[in-house]
Formats: sequence, C-alpha cells, structure tokens
Amino acid sequence: GRVAVLYGGDSPEAEVSRMTGEGVLSVLSSLSVVARGMEVGPGLPALLSEFHPDACFLATHGGKGENGALQGLLEVMEIPYTGTGVLGSALGMSKSVSRKLFRSGGLVVPETLEFSSKDFPRDLALPFPYPVIVKPESAGSSIGILKVDSPECLRDAISDAMSHSSKVLVEPFLVGREIQVGLLFGEPIGIIEVVPDPKEPFYTFSSKYQPGGSRHLFPAAVTEPEEKALHHAASVAWDLLDLRGVARLDTILLPSGDVVVLEMNTLPGMTKTSLLPEIAMGMGIPFPDLVCRILNGACL
Ligand code: DAL
Ligand code: MG
Repeated sequence: GRVAVLYGGDSPEAEVSRMTGEGVLSVLSSLSVVARGMEVGPGLPALLSEFHPDACFLATHGGKGENGALQGLLEVMEIPYTGTGVLGSALGMSKSVSRKLFRSGGLVVPETLEFSSKDFPRDLALPFPYPVIVKPESAGSSIGILKVDSPECLRDAISDAMSHSSKVLVEPFLVGREIQVGLLFGEPIGIIEVVPDPKEPFYTFSSKYQPGGSRHLFPAAVTEPEEKALHHAASVAWDLLDLRGVARLDTILLPSGDVVVLEMNTLPGMTKTSLLPEIAMGMGIPFPDLVCRILNGACL
C-alpha cells in the first residue's frame, strides 16, 4: 500500500511533529510500504491527489493537524487516516471544552478560570492560592505554560499565553505525581510516572524533549485502587471524546489517591523521549509494532 505520513505545518509543535514523522517514516520504509512524508499546509491537497495514498498516517501535533481541521480535509478527500475523527480531535484540542465534558462524566479536573483577550479583567483576584499554572487553552508540549508564584506576575503570564491561544486557562499548581495513561483502541495499556528535572518548575518543553530532561518510571508504582481509578478515568475520557487509534491521558495523582485529569492527547508524541511509545514498549509492543497497529486502524 501507499501511505502518506503527515507532519509539520504552522503549529508551534511542528518541530516535535517532524520528529514523530521521522520515526514513523523510518518504520514504514523498513516494511514493504510505499511511504512519503508530507508537510501540512496549503499545498497538501495537491500532494495527496498526486500521490494517491491508501491511508494517511497523522504525525501532526497541535494546531490544524490536531484540532480536526486536517481530519476534515481528509474526510472531504475521502482518504482514510489514523487516529481520532473531526469531532473528537476538536474536543480534545480544547482544554476548556474537554474539561467540561470530563466533569460531566464524573471525572475530577482542576478548578479552571478562563480568560480571553476580549474580557481581560482589571481585577485578577483568584479563588485559589498561588502558585498557579497559566496555560494556553489549546496548545501542546507545554508551550506557553508558566508557573506563577505571585499575583504581580499573573498578568504578564496570561498575556504571554495569549500569544499562543486566544483563550487562556489559570488553574492551581497541584502538588502530586505526574501520571500518564497510554490508551490503544480504547484500552488503557499502561501507566507511567514522569519526574521532571528538579531544576525545572514543572514538566516543561525542555524536560519533555531533552534526553534526560525527566525521569520516566514504568510501570508507575501505584496502588491497586489508584490503578483502577486511573484506568477508569482514561476509559471514561476516551468514550466522552469519542476517540480512535491511540491517546494519552495526562493526570496529577494527588496524595489522597484522587486522580485529577489535566487533558487527553489525541495525537500523542512519538519522539524518542515521548511517553506513549515507552508505555507501549513496556507492555511488549515495540515501536514498529505500535506504528503498524495505528496504521491498520486508519479509517474514514
Ligand atoms: N502534544 C505532545 C506532542 C504530546 O502530547 O505528546
Ligand atoms: Mg497535551
């Protein structure tokens, strides 16, 4: 078959996406698949029409490659693609909307304040104590996220995050363990704990992508009830967003054992330092196998 691997584009995560794409392309080229890498952009429909792939493997992260826009284009062109469809992608990319859905499904999410450039208040009094986390409403890889320790720095942090997303979320900095759950076709496949470099304020971009920027503990040392709660949260979140293919749920596990859901990633990174491939590997699914399984799930 012929497979187009899509990556890049104008997302701030384009570079990360090219790393995911490179890994996927090298797997496909070692198989008997005719694979071609393609940059996402206005020229994409012409490239696809010319190559005529049987399926597209989405290695995109952030922006139009993850928010349903690219998925919509492929629907119109009637080219099967990997991963989640238009609606699930759009829901997953919006931290605000997905959190509302998660809450409606009985999951615990952080107390979240929303700001948009239109209603930027003069008074930024918060209903929870500092430190807080300020993040773009729809971005990834921790781009634009800041930990803010005191009220004087809040306004600047919000303005900064607004350069990445028209809406900005402010939430408490939760003290707990950074725990993530990998999902494959709706099944939670494994739980990993991330311990960012103590020099970093949280699991930042550099702790995500610099080798050694964080320690990964797999399988995460969680109790049986914690494992049950994490699997439950992952499965419920998957169903609420109507996901396909693979995904990764990011949570904070509180000392009480409660799971706070931060977000679901519908196109989780597959770079050398990314967590989903590490979880899969730990569960006996090597990277080439993971790529093949995702590709076999491609549909319209
Ligand atoms: N947004 C990045 C790629 C991730 O979730 O892994
Ligand atoms: Mg994310």
